[in-house]
Amino acid sequence: MKNLSQKRILLGVSGGIAAYKSAELVRRLRADGALVRVVMTVNASEFVTARTFHALSGEPVLSGWSDDSSGMAHIELARWADRILVAPATANTLARLAQGRADDLLAAVCLASDAPLMVAPAMNQGMWRHAATRANVALLRERGVQICGPAEGEQACGDVGPGRMLEPQALLQALSDSFSSMRLAGVKVMVTAGPTREALDPVRFLSNRSSGKTGYAIARAAREAGASVTLISGPVALDAPSGLQCIGVESAQDMLEAVMARVSDCDLFIAAAAVADYRPAEPAQQKIKKRATASSLPLEPVTDVLARVAALQRRPFCVGFAAETEQLEQHAQRKRLRKGVEMIAANLVGGGRGFDSDDNELLLVWEGGQCWLPRDSKPRLARQLVDKIATLYSQRFNKEISSEHHAKHSA
Ligand code: CTP
Repeated sequence: MKNLSQKRILLGVSGGIAAYKSAELVRRLRADGALVRVVMTVNASEFVTARTFHALSGEPVLSGWSDDSSGMAHIELARWADRILVAPATANTLARLAQGRADDLLAAVCLASDAPLMVAPAMNQGMWRHAATRANVALLRERGVQICGPAEGEQACGDVGPGRMLEPQALLQALSDSFSSMRLAGVKVMVTAGPTREALDPVRFLSNRSSGKTGYAIARAAREAGASVTLISGPVALDAPSGLQCIGVESAQDMLEAVMARVSDCDLFIAAAAVADYRPAEPAQQKIKKRATASSLPLEPVTDVLARVAALQRRPFCVGFAAETEQLEQHAQRKRLRKGVEMIAANLVGGGRGFDSDDNELLLVWEGGQCWLPRDSKPRLARQLVDKIATLYSQRFNKEISSEHHAKHSA
């Protein structure tokens, strides 16, 4: 499974002949939807030019300190990256990383970043086998760095042995695997996303500004966590994520029907859609004509999909959203109780926040707890949210298992 869509991959290229394979890796990463930025060591440009990586990644390439004109580019990149992969990682680069040096831009980015670091060693087999390299690799591994390869075989220098950089396909897979936590393996998840459209007449509707980005990012994150996912989506301008079932709906009633038809086969329900609260009471069959006088529109409430699911006797673990303009915590806890759901993810909207933007921040509230997910891109926030949901879901699941066990044994 490829999990690379919208992932921010920082590729570090150090000076080895295998650097030419990294160009192909960038091409494939882009083809799989990843966002790629490249940082080269000065020695790497002896093997492949920055222009090659610029053309393939679509982003300017940074190399020496002189490319960091503001002095902050290395920090910005360190924060930007979801993963850092150094490929090829020469013996010298591994040594510098092991020592925690910041003597060039790439080493400084690796040192400054919280993102998981992966390295793909590439060097002569003698250098790979040397005790110094073994010790550096062991130290890096101990610190949580993922060592990808090397492969064995014929080397550029004519030697045969371990030290060849893994092929781009294997590195692509390693990156993809690194995003899949499998915390929701075997769990059936249903996610609602996007706005709904409530018809006024055959050509007009009431709707809202929801872009669907949050719901889609959650569906993707749940898929990456190993869940089998059904996404029920209102009309949005987003591509259906791969590897999951996507059902398009238009109105709140359509969404309700699509959800209720599948809810019996669902363990976890995440309602991220901005469903209408009201719809025109009597949508006109023909286009409403303009009149000179003022007009009013009778509205009727629509069924709350989330509350309906939460009220079922056999029901999934339920997570809802709350968009508030003030008193976030109080409104979120009240909404959680009113809807009878396990968790509410609340955010402040208005003033350019929330709906149409690419990033967001969330307050998660549940019975007896809460946590804050600070401002981040919607895909990253979705991964953190899914992680938190997975924790609460497994606690609940374990509690149910142990109470069933208890009931059986005390009967
Ligand atoms: N929701 C739903 N069906 C509706 C309305 C809302 O499933 N007809 C879900 C949304 O997907 C979201 C949560 O309920 O998870 C939002 O609750 P809602 O009461 O609509 O909150 P707000 O939109 O924040 O509005 P208000 O503050 O007016 O209650």
